Amino acid sequence: MDKKSVLLIIGGGIAAFKSLELIRLLKTRGIGVTAIMTKAAEQFVTPLSVASLSGNKVYGDLFSLTDEIEMGHIELSRSADLIVVAPATADLIAKMANGLADDLASTTLLATDKKVLIAPAMNVRMWQHAATRRNVAKVTRDGVAMVGPNDGEMACGEFGPGRMAEPSEIAAAIEAQFAPAARTLQGRKVLITAGPTHEPIDPVRYIGNNSSGKQGYAIAEAAVALGAETVLVSGPVSLPLPPGAQVMPVETAQAMLKLCEEELPCDIAIFAAAVADWRVAAASDEKIKKTGSGAPKLDLVENPDILKTIATAKSKRPKIVVGFAAETENVIENAKKKLAAKGCDLIVANDVSPASGVMGGDSNTVHLVSAKGVETWPRLSKRDVAQRLMDRLAAMLSAT
Ligand code: CTP
Repeated sequence: MDKKSVLLIIGGGIAAFKSLELIRLLKTRGIGVTAIMTKAAEQFVTPLSVASLSGNKVYGDLFSLTDEIEMGHIELSRSADLIVVAPATADLIAKMANGLADDLASTTLLATDKKVLIAPAMNVRMWQHAATRRNVAKVTRDGVAMVGPNDGEMACGEFGPGRMAEPSEIAAAIEAQFAPAARTLQGRKVLITAGPTHEPIDPVRYIGNNSSGKQGYAIAEAAVALGAETVLVSGPVSLPLPPGAQVMPVETAQAMLKLCEEELPCDIAIFAAAVADWRVAAASDEKIKKTGSGAPKLDLVENPDILKTIATAKSKRPKIVVGFAAETENVIENAKKKLAAKGCDLIVANDVSPASGVMGGDSNTVHLVSAKGVETWPRLSKRDVAQRLMDRLAAMLSAT
């Protein structure tokens, strides 16, 4: 493969310091980097650091005569294989969405005919603002690819989505643009459950849990990337829909099971949902009022075990059935028991104790438990876990 090159546009945000690590990672992967810095970016990292790490001249001024003679901005926008904007600030995304071109970065983005990948980074309120939502939707519609942002603590001390994806995640997204996944699941059907279920107590209350759905959604994305017909049966989550997957929203375990059964037969079924184990036997049609004589008694009944029902189905059992085991102690022992009890082919076990930061977080340390033994993967982003898992399942499927 010829040496690939990236034109990296560094926007002005505190996350700009991470672009230095990104340049280093890309160089170690043999990817060339030329950088453009906005004026604001220069307040956060120096052009000298960027030039030293990239080994290339750094561009910044639209009206620099020497730059324009050496390498015109049109040429700059076209010479790379991919344009990466990291950090992509709210301002840069707004310019992209509206076709503004008032500095070298935005002019280059407007003049390019190359694929663009953005790694947004901004304060959580800016990310959630209606204007940013609109602008992100516009650029995505225009074909711009996006990695992140992640949830987490922000430099401003707030917490939520808006943190730039880690350099390793951006580097992986860049590599994925250069080497689109082989479509090893073309013509195959993959069924995935994700998120929590909500079991109603009355019209305004429910039994639920903290599952974010991130791991299941990442798996759906990875399945789509491998060319699978991907059906995602999702409990209530607040995540963007994975493009290319058929998403079926559900609330309860019973509804989730029904939809899953309707989607059979399929080749691979992955049960990543955190299904509520119990539901209220008779949910009230009316909001339960305080009576002044103590708390109401809720009769709970067990929910159907979706994984077990489908893994042990007499007919239409998927060729490969994968379960998840969210444990807080004795992770591997419990996962081995679950493998046998549920009748599945593989359990992806992870430690979800509060100290692990897995619930709601963006990374995961998983153990693959099968009849063959246990394989422990290093701590990876949920995206990388998903890609590796789908590659593994595709290989297992082709061996059946
Ligand atoms: N699962 C399911 N339907 C249920 C409960 C669990 O499909 N009613 C699936 C999950 O999607 C996951 C696996 O079973 O793939 C393990 O779920 P988990 O809640 O960790 O295990 P449980 O069987 O509920 O056992 P325990 O809560 O005792 O650990």
